[in-house]
Amino acid sequence: NNSIRIAIDGPAGAGKSTVAKQVADRLSYIYIDTGAMYRAVTLKAIQEGLDLHDGPALKRMLDETVIELVKHEEGQAVILDGKDVSEEIRTYEVTNNVSFVARLAEVRLDLVRRQQLLAEKGGVVMDGRDIGTHVLPNAELKVFLIASADERARRRYEENNRKGFETNLEQLKQEILLRDKRDSERAVAPLKKADDAIELDTTSMTIQDVVTRILELAGERA
Ligand code: C5P
Repeated sequence: NNSIRIAIDGPAGAGKSTVAKQVADRLSYIYIDTGAMYRAVTLKAIQEGLDLHDGPALKRMLDETVIELVKHEEGQAVILDGKDVSEEIRTYEVTNNVSFVARLAEVRLDLVRRQQLLAEKGGVVMDGRDIGTHVLPNAELKVFLIASADERARRRYEENNRKGFETNLEQLKQEILLRDKRDSERAVAPLKKADDAIELDTTSMTIQDVVTRILELAGERA
């Protein structure tokens, strides 16, 4: 039973969290949604009325911030300073501001350290943008998930519909592309495929296909 570290990166809406959760369940590994951590920081900064471009202010806030990822039936709950914010971190306001907070070096330094501590014992599936390149550069398996922008927007749209949110498909696509652009162009740890990552284009794959493929790759490395 060799517990490995699996890094899953890729652009917004490529299916990372859905797939990562299922892979973790199948292997009895822990799942760490690093995007949820950046979202929680963004939510708190908005609530406190901080300037989302002020690195030192966000650093001071982080020194007083506890973020816990707790496993439950439908995946993972995000607990911010003792309060469940799993729904709040998915709002439009957080989604469209998170890239500003995530580009601050102070924020990344702090969260990356927390993520590395969570992964210390191995047996983890971690998803994000910089896991293979910065957080776990020695991960035994690195996967980079991509899908066409139209397909990613369509998946988000259906997810929103299921949750009962009215959204506009074209607007979702533009927001996804803008967030990817900001995440790819930032100076610190931009979204980028690690040289040793395996790229999977999931545009015409089902979730089950992707999970199966990653489990195969994990099996070769365990
Ligand atoms: O994965 P998710 O869409 O929840 O991520 C939200 C945002 O958090 C991303 O758009 C990105 O700005 C930031 N992020 C990051 N590095 C990670 C994970 C997420 O910069 N490892």
